[in-house]
Amino acid sequence: MKRQDYYYRLAKKEHYKSRAAYKLMHIDDRFYIFKKGKSVLDLGASPGGWSQVAKERTYGGAVFSVDIKPVHIEGITYIKGNVFDDEIINKIKEKMVEKNTDGFDVILSDMSPKISGVKEVDHQQSLDLGRRALEISKQLLKVGGSLIIKLFYGQDIFNIKKEVEAFFDFCKFYTPPSSRKGSREVYMVCKRFKKTI
Ligand SMILES: C[S@@+](CC[C@H](N)C(=O)[O-])C[C@H]1O[C@@H](n2cnc3c(N)ncnc32)[C@H](O)[C@@H]1O
Repeated sequence: MKRQDYYYRLAKKEHYKSRAAYKLMHIDDRFYIFKKGKSVLDLGASPGGWSQVAKERTYGGAVFSVDIKPVHIEGITYIKGNVFDDEIINKIKEKMVEKNTDGFDVILSDMSPKISGVKEVDHQQSLDLGRRALEISKQLLKVGGSLIIKLFYGQDIFNIKKEVEAFFDFCKFYTPPSSRKGSREVYMVCKRFKKTI
């Protein structure tokens, strides 16, 4: 059973869907990702803590939340699906047309593989998810936009950084104080997306 720590209890008290909500708040406090009215795509959004924070910190901006598992939050657009599914980008685009959204200012990926406990396996699977978040961003992130990707630390962490930072003016690793002690997760925070062609 997961340790019920300070952020777990705080999330219950403040009605966030997950303790992960505080990680995104800490990232935003440090890097100023959100602004009023910005549009956000949240990949791997369930149960929805990050989507709640995105909604609050954009003061009602459009938030699209993608996950295999459900997300129940009022006012967001939920898209059920696996990011590796060939049709997922079209599914998101269809919803964008419905909601008059022409691209995203911010793309978030807090996606995690099913943890195997084998560090190298978990690391490589997190890189696959990170690379997929980058592919999706190349199609849906607006020029000047921001991308945040969760990764599990391992030998290829600087290789993926190189791949991703080629498309941004700014890219940094950050571990928020709300990440669990001993966790191998690290967030890559990238800003000012450049044109890809
Ligand atoms: C750590 S949780 C996200 C927590 C979320 N940020 C929050 O604040 O509530 C990781 C999520 O990634 C999702 N996920 C993992 N692989 C995925 C995939 N291939 N496609 C879509 N979602 C995926 C899982 O279903 C899980 O809900």
